[in-house]
Formats: sequence, structure tokens, C-alpha cells
Amino acid sequence: MEVTASAPGKIILFGEHAVVYGSAAIAIAIQTRARATVKSIPEKRILINARDMNLIEKIPLDQKAIEFKLKERKMLTPILNCFSIIMQQAELNHGIQLELESDIPIGAGLGSSAAVSVAILGALNELLDMKMDLETISSNALEVERSVHGTPSGIDNTISTHGSAIYYKRGEMQKVRVPFNIPLLILNTSIPRRTGDLVSLVRRKYISNRSVFNSIFQAIDKISSKGRFLLERGRLSELGELMNINQGLLDAMGVSTPPISDIINEIRSLGVLGVKITGAGGGGSIIMLCSPRNTRKVARRLSKSHDIIQTSLSSDGLKIEKKME
Ligand code: PMV
Repeated sequence: MEVTASAPGKIILFGEHAVVYGSAAIAIAIQTRARATVKSIPEKRILINARDMNLIEKIPLDQKAIEFKLKERKMLTPILNCFSIIMQQAELNHGIQLELESDIPIGAGLGSSAAVSVAILGALNELLDMKMDLETISSNALEVERSVHGTPSGIDNTISTHGSAIYYKRGEMQKVRVPFNIPLLILNTSIPRRTGDLVSLVRRKYISNRSVFNSIFQAIDKISSKGRFLLERGRLSELGELMNINQGLLDAMGVSTPPISDIINEIRSLGVLGVKITGAGGGGSIIMLCSPRNTRKVARRLSKSHDIIQTSLSSDGLKIEKKME
């Protein structure tokens, strides 16, 4: 049997970092996706072919070999940890071939590692007839995220599994109904950074200024609740205003850098409604909200000197694309 599953990337509209400390956040699944195709093979190995990540590997199907490989190639962490989790929950008496494709840029704050994990777990769940529900797949993907960057809030795996838009707080999610086609423009700065490093940076700053940071996190919690209200009513300019305030607070947390500030100022000069970092910051991606009539013009102007992704909300989370006996 052969199964293909896919899962979306995401943007965080409000609340990154603060969500790690229990504040609310809002995430939106986007049209870019990771796709995993798995099939059983007689040879007791895991064969991995991930062209976009430049990975071709052949690994014996046992925990020790996986652990050894993990030390050697960090890039394999999300993929191999999915297999480790599955091997703890199902008996594998055959090997598995995995093909991975993704149009979500890696390390850009767009949820690539969570989408890869959700797609692999979803495909293996179907192939091995494990009957995991979406909640279990999402919590297994959270386990994998922990191995990638320490203390994830759980927002990335949740949005990638369920799709659409979510309001997320302390491990609980509620779907947000977005009654219009929200125009999403993303600028990928292509400045590499690691989520775990940025989460640790905020942790250090939080420890030395707890009461100040608690006030910042509270303000962000309010931004997310108000943002949800505005999103459900399609009130774009007020949403943009909240994005600008959230960006100011991200700057105060230390995750905006001089090159990011320069790009944000450049974007502001084009008359957008709101602009902010999305995800961990330190590089990665910037999102902006424009009035519908301005979106194309802004995209065209910025495309001259930046990598721009024009996308929209994806209501699909984890999806089985193909199943062949
Ligand atoms: O990995 P990224 O860049 O998509 O960011 C994750 C969002 C954080 O709030 C910074 C971390 C988390 O686990 O919520």
C-alpha cells in the first residue's frame, strides 16, 4: 500500500513567544504544504528521499540505529523522531519508504518542521492502520517538536493538524471563523535563525525582568482576544493596528533585529495596514496586512527586492491526498 498525506504551514497573526508563557495566540494555516508519501517495503529499513532538504538516507529499522543517525545529521530530527514515536506504538515487521516534498521554506517561521511531522505521522497512521485521531497525531507531533526546539507551545502542530484559523491558549484551541478571504502577504527575509535560540533569548530576558515581561505577555493576551473578535468581523484596519502594536512588543522582547526593523520600515512606507514578524523572529518571515485594493501593488513593489509569498487561509489541516492498495 502507498499513502500520501499533506499538512499546511502557518503564520502566527498574534501572540508568538507570549504563547509559550500561557498568553493567547492566533495562527492561520496557509496554502503552502508539506507532503509525505509512505509505502511498505520488504527490506527492514527506513528509506528517506527528501529532495527539498537534500536528504537521501537508508537507515536500519531499529531504535539504536535511529539514535546514532540523529547524532550525525540534525536535519533528520523531525523525520526520525516521527518514526521513533510510531515504533513505540505499532509493531513494524516491514520497512518503510518515505518521500517528502515541501513548499514551505525551512527556518522561515512558517511552521515547516511541524507540517513535516504532521504529514509523516498522518501518512504512517493510515499506512499502518493505527487509528490515531487528530488529537493524538497533533500531540505526537508536539513530542517531535520538543525534540527540535525544547519548549514549544504546541501552536504549530495544532494549526498544521487542524487547518483554518485558531485561537490557542495553554494547550487548548478554538477555531476562529474568518468570514472573508484574508489577504496574506509574507516576506521571507531568508535570514536564517533557529526557533530554539530565540525562545531561549526571550527566556533569559524574562528571567531578568519578570514583572515587565509579564505585563508584555498580558498585553499580547489582550491583543489576541481583541484580534479574534476583529478577525471574525473582517475589520481589517483595526487588525492592522493590533499587528503594529504586537510588533512593538516583539521588538521590546528583543526578537526584532536591525535588518528586520529596516524591512518593516520599508513596508510601512508603502501604506500597509499592519506589519509584524511572524514566528520566532531574529530573521525568518514578516507578515503584512493590506487593504484588498492595495495588496497586489504592495506585493509587486516588494517583489523587486524581496522574496514575497502571496497566499491565503487554508481550511485544510492534515489531509490524506492519495491511498493506493
Ligand atoms: O518556529 P516558528 O518560527 O514558527 O515560531 C514558533 C512560535 C514561538 O511562539 C516562538 C514558539 C512556540 O513554540 O510557540
